[in-house]
Amino acid sequence: MRIDIISAVPDLLVSPLNTSIIKRAQDKQKVEIFLHDLRDYAHDKHRQIDDKPFGGGAGMLLKPEPFFECIEKLLSERNYSHIVFTTPKGKVFDQQTANRFSLAENILFIVGHYKGIDDRVRERFATDELSIGNYVLSGGELPALVIIDAVVRLIPGVLNDSESALNDSFQDGEVLEAPFYTRPAVFRDMKVPDVLLSGDDKKIRLWKAEQSNVFTEKWKKINNIAE
Ligand code: ADE
Repeated sequence: MRIDIISAVPDLLVSPLNTSIIKRAQDKQKVEIFLHDLRDYAHDKHRQIDDKPFGGGAGMLLKPEPFFECIEKLLSERNYSHIVFTTPKGKVFDQQTANRFSLAENILFIVGHYKGIDDRVRERFATDELSIGNYVLSGGELPALVIIDAVVRLIPGVLNDSESALNDSFQDGEVLEAPFYTRPAVFRDMKVPDVLLSGDDKKIRLWKAEQSNVFTEKWKKINNIAE
């Protein structure tokens, strides 16, 4: 998979993309990630990438020209099955979308900062408008990272068998996993459930299924999700 990200503050992305699973996925050549600094596509004297919104209002908007130039250059080189525009106005990103994206060959992220991007960029290029939740962040960089993390770990061969994503919460619809414990078996006054120490595989499986139910029901309740 190839991922391109166009951003006005690409530095915000560097460390998270070069750490942990995403770094490993790149080392294993399962994914290539390219950052594009919007400022490299601004050609006026001051390399200006933002301007005041028409009609007034607070904040500065990212101008359309640098985005158009960068996107058109990338599109002249390859096709993208998804051109993702991160925005709180989009469809809320979920595990199903992550699974779908994990099969893509090329994905391009267009991310805004400050007040946002001139809407003509979204209108012309976006194939997927995605939000990571109903709150407003200072830019689309963190949402892009969230989406990339969720997608990259699902690319076959990125996780090893013991880390397999198959049993992850949400991988099987809205079903959450049972809680996990490691040593010590007793910590402070808190004891790991006896069944996990029993060595009885059948009992453990039953307990995990039961706990998965308990946590899923509790999750639905606190998130106001109907049965
Ligand atoms: N940009 C700002 N806030 C966002 C959000 N919640 N999701 C996606 N993009 C955003």
